[in-house]
Amino acid sequence: MLYIGIDLGTSAVKLLLVDEKGEIKNVVSKEYPISFPKSNWSEQNPADWWNATVEGINELVEGFDKSQVCGIGAGGQMHGLVALDENDEVIRPAILWNDGRTEKEVEYLNSVIGKDKLSKYTANIAFAGFTAPKILWMKNNEPENFEKISKIMLPKDYINYKLTGVHCCDYSDASGMLLLDVKNKCYSKEMLEICEITEDKLPTLYESYEVVGNVKKEVADMFGFGEVKVVAGAGDNAAAAIGTGTVGDGKCNISLGTSGTIFISSNSFGVDKFNALHSFAHADGNYHLMGCMLSAASCNKWFMDDVLQDKDYSSIQAKITDDKLGNNEVYFLPYLMGERSPINDTNARGTFIGMSMDTKRESMLQAVLEGVAFAIRDCFEIAKDLGINISQSNICGGGAKSNLWKKIIANVLGIRLDIVKTEQGPGYGGAMLAMVGCGVYNDVNEACNKLVEVVESVYPDEELAARYDKKYQSFKKIYPALKETFRELSKE
Ligand code: XUL
Repeated sequence: MLYIGIDLGTSAVKLLLVDEKGEIKNVVSKEYPISFPKSNWSEQNPADWWNATVEGINELVEGFDKSQVCGIGAGGQMHGLVALDENDEVIRPAILWNDGRTEKEVEYLNSVIGKDKLSKYTANIAFAGFTAPKILWMKNNEPENFEKISKIMLPKDYINYKLTGVHCCDYSDASGMLLLDVKNKCYSKEMLEICEITEDKLPTLYESYEVVGNVKKEVADMFGFGEVKVVAGAGDNAAAAIGTGTVGDGKCNISLGTSGTIFISSNSFGVDKFNALHSFAHADGNYHLMGCMLSAASCNKWFMDDVLQDKDYSSIQAKITDDKLGNNEVYFLPYLMGERSPINDTNARGTFIGMSMDTKRESMLQAVLEGVAFAIRDCFEIAKDLGINISQSNICGGGAKSNLWKKIIANVLGIRLDIVKTEQGPGYGGAMLAMVGCGVYNDVNEACNKLVEVVESVYPDEELAARYDKKYQSFKKIYPALKETFRELSKE
């Protein structure tokens, strides 16, 4: 039997064809555009996601026995607001997870409603990228669109809806809407009232591995499939955590994608008392804490593609030799899209500091890679303050392909990083959830035990970790010194 894992990312949809032993039979990736219509805005057209997924699935199964495909599971970019009217037409482009337009709504939620109440209702406070502030933004700025809303859903739920006709969402992804009472796994009546929406507009909730329905006949015919079950799937970080076996108490996964996340799994519900880390449901039926940096691998891509205009990532990284690590005088704040965790500041911006006449392009690139690592450490320190002791982490995502970056992160955090054999992140987790839904494995834990294997580890070096610790102490002082300036600049 064959299973399809979908990773509905920010730059592309990545599709995996996997057999029941977990062997990857084929991989297809299809890109789509992202638009930034105004500073801090970030949007995509849901039709582009669907068209890329259809094209990708057709290519993925070409040459395989299509009647063997029996399950689909998706992991998707979180928090994006997809709104449909009564005819199931998309009302406006989806407002994405890294969109920062909701500053006023976030301020209203966190200050007027109040963080204590939000945390009591949802286990979280408002961040610009979360879905509820975007619903309020639509109500305040596009009332004619707000009136038309008949269904609200998240990005991967749009794909599930197109596949099955079922309006559904899973608990891990729904956690990031700021509409879910995460602890009790139901919508918060108070939050629905605050956002002036009714529950019938929201998707039905499932565990990530539960089957929501079958692929609709006309869609199955288009792919040449027979009966194919679709599971609810998960937010991309929870799906990536499943794909790297990050389940159980205190396990950690770092994802270096467009965003950077640090994901700590837990068997019980818990909240960081300052709400700097998100408290969300996990795709294995339990919970997790997560810190999210809005720009991670995207900082590297931006610096290489847009600033240096150099596609040869490895040649320039090769110039960053071991003796340079921990000795860079240049620092970089990776806040190209503002920042979520832990500083929650839409006005923050990317910043280089510390250059001199002999600064070379590779020192600036090194600062970019290190700046992202230091930002991960910021979240890591919060977890430590909560008493969570992390001595090892899995790592996945595009940025984890760079040995240099993994070495920097292992030493900045002072922990061992493990890389799993099928480091395909959310797509692999999605396929695993489909296998659980189809009964191949009894539960997610069993699927992880059977399918996930560590193939490489990167260990920190004591001396280098100490040098990076010193550098981190300097990095920590840069943002507080600039915070007010960022605020002033944003008003210009
Ligand atoms: C998590 C988050 C991002 C997106 C990116 O809270 O906003 O990781 O899910 O795909």
